[in-house]
Amino acid sequence: MENGNLKLAIQKKGRLSEKSLELLKLCGLDIENYSERLIVSAKNHKLDLLFLRDDDIPEYVQDGVADIGIVGEDVVYEKQANITVSEKLGFGKCKLMIAAPSNGMPESLEDLNGKTIATSYPNILKLFLNANNLQAKIIQISGSVEIAPSLGVADLICDIVSTGNTLRMNKLNKSFNVFDSEAVMISNNDLKKNEEKYAILQDLIARMRSVLSAKKSKYLMMNIPKNSLEEITRIIPSLKSPTVLHLADEASLAVHAVIPADRFWSIVNDLKAAGATGILLLPIENMIF
Ligand code: PRP
Ligand code: ZN
Repeated sequence: MENGNLKLAIQKKGRLSEKSLELLKLCGLDIENYSERLIVSAKNHKLDLLFLRDDDIPEYVQDGVADIGIVGEDVVYEKQANITVSEKLGFGKCKLMIAAPSNGMPESLEDLNGKTIATSYPNILKLFLNANNLQAKIIQISGSVEIAPSLGVADLICDIVSTGNTLRMNKLNKSFNVFDSEAVMISNNDLKKNEEKYAILQDLIARMRSVLSAKKSKYLMMNIPKNSLEEITRIIPSLKSPTVLHLADEASLAVHAVIPADRFWSIVNDLKAAGATGILLLPIENMIF
């Protein structure tokens, strides 16, 4: 299907699916309910979405079946496909870890010598073992790695840990960290040659940056006594100087500022002590620089 649209592959079902779709919607793309379809076109953009197994995405992007893809760095490094990583997306953070049943917990890395480790990440695991001079046997399994120890197939596993629920449900404990991962935008190495498609990618990345930085910031509003403006300005952790507005009540001012979302609770008491009232914290949908 060559319609000039940029083809973006995302995970069909898994940790990154919902968040990838949510990000695209926040970027203003109108994507209809995809249910079980493999390809869906955005209604208001020259973009087609392909829903694929995440493990297949790097190769499909390399071969040009998809032009770009949203996938975890774990899969990108494991598959060693010939693609370009265009942008880190800051969500889907997780760790590739070695985990073990409580009666077989390794105490040091050396304890991995002679052990059997089940994983869907044989390449990354091999690099980790080599880098640490360890001799362990790798058993490659494509799914449900976490049940390998209870089936007696392996002593340990090496798999993705995000919330840790999968490990808990299978009575496994984290031991060593092998690789840190988050979602990234990858693109086909030849995409630059297609000016039109490359422009759609640049536009999409700009939209994503604006959505992602907006998520990290909040809009703070409050009323303050006129004479505490200097003190309040000092407390507000804003890069730019806050907006100050006059109120009908001449003894007061309204102050607005964009602040890092995670700083709010550490300053709210100081703001109150300086006389701020009616403090409001609002989400920001987009931030254009
Ligand atoms: C990974 C991994 C676990 C789960 C761990 O699967 O294989 O099943 O995430 O997450 P948790 O710590 O929050 O329970 P992924 O979404 O990558 O899907 P896949 O294994 O089908 O590729
Ligand atoms: Zn996968």
